[in-house]
Amino acid sequence: MKALILVGGFGTRLRPLTLTVPKPLVDFANKPMILHQIEALVQAGVTDIVLAVNYKPEVMVAVLKKYEDKFGITITFSVEKEPLGTVTEALFPERLPPPPPPPHRLANHPLRSGRRVAGPLALARGVLGKDDSPFFVLNADVTCDYPFEAMRDFHAAHGGEGTILATKVEEPSKYGVIVVRSGTSQIERFVEKPVEYVGNRINAGIYIFSPSILDRIELRPTSIEKEIFPRMAADVQLHTFDLEGYWMDVGQPKDFLTGTCLYLSSLSKRCPEQLAPASEDYVHGGNVLVHPSAKIGKGCKIGPNVTIGPNTTIGDGVCLQRCVLMEGTHVKDYSWVKNSIVGWHSSVGRWSRLDGVTVLGDDVHIADEVYVNGASVLPHKSISSNVCEPGIVM
Ligand code: GDD
Ligand code: MG
Repeated sequence: MKALILVGGFGTRLRPLTLTVPKPLVDFANKPMILHQIEALVQAGVTDIVLAVNYKPEVMVAVLKKYEDKFGITITFSVEKEPLGTVTEALFPERLPPPPPPPHRLANHPLRSGRRVAGPLALARGVLGKDDSPFFVLNADVTCDYPFEAMRDFHAAHGGEGTILATKVEEPSKYGVIVVRSGTSQIERFVEKPVEYVGNRINAGIYIFSPSILDRIELRPTSIEKEIFPRMAADVQLHTFDLEGYWMDVGQPKDFLTGTCLYLSSLSKRCPEQLAPASEDYVHGGNVLVHPSAKIGKGCKIGPNVTIGPNTTIGDGVCLQRCVLMEGTHVKDYSWVKNSIVGWHSSVGRWSRLDGVTVLGDDVHIADEVYVNGASVLPHKSISSNVCEPGIVM
């Protein structure tokens, strides 16, 4: 089977982490966000994955290339900016999607708009349309227990052109909202980011399409949500498949932390052996994921809902709750980190405290005895006095 993952966009809402790596490569539960999706796709029998990239493609290619061999799959990079074709060609000369026709290669390239577009599908037509089998499309920033096999069976059974995975949320206005024909799975209306309330069943950002959808998409900037879905709904070609279990778009720090909690809770049911055992002295309240290379001091209280990345050092008497420590972080003695994300290679001083959805970018250093509340701290900064009000520290 085939899949396309949308990995473009600037990830501005996940800054300062996305100042260092593209959003799909930000570590979620100790591995790049997108790797969770690739693993689940491979598990469901997908062998061809197209990554639609428009931001830092070199980084993406360098990191993801190794998974081709590891999983025995083909990863094609559909690169949206002209000069970056060279990188793709250098690394995957035999796997380039067919080049778009000349008129689209320059200023009016379909993917130059910087918006998420249906264009990546059109550009990747060579892979996605190479046979009659359906393909998955994923937003790279959503986490759930991916129900790919169930979606594939459901899609085959209804015979329509597309199936959208749906979930219910309390605040639907920041998503695409789906209205179904009552008593059926048919989508009657699709409204992207509605200003007025139309319902709370939303687009979870995961689809399966029959290749005929490619004929609906022209090589020009096209929003799949605003242009293609409404037309497919009008043609009665679009169905919805309700997701069971948790779901979160982790493209913003607050949601990233919530998504981490949901993921850990799911992991505790599916694969409890991957979490730190409750018998560990430091585990308080469960759902603690610790990389084997992490060093943890004496008398710590860790949990619930904490992920600790590779090569981290945690001092004595540290308290960690509902937080994420990325690779190479150093949390010193008697500090307290709660509701916060500590970016790569950053440090938190002795007796210091982070709270209120504080996000430290890469290589940030918090001095001893400092309180930081709700700050987004840009990479390479040192903070030596309290930050009591939420805001950006540049
Ligand atoms: N290739 C490419 N090019 N990818 C892009 C671009 C682009 O210009 N812009 C964004 N993306 C990727 C992002 O990396 C992300 O994986 C995905 O497309 C969705 O973009 P977001 O910016 O995260 O969109 P959103 O969260 O506001 O809304 C979308 O996701 C919701 C579910 O989380 C929509 O699809 C909504 O309908 C949906 O409910
Ligand atoms: Mg998103």
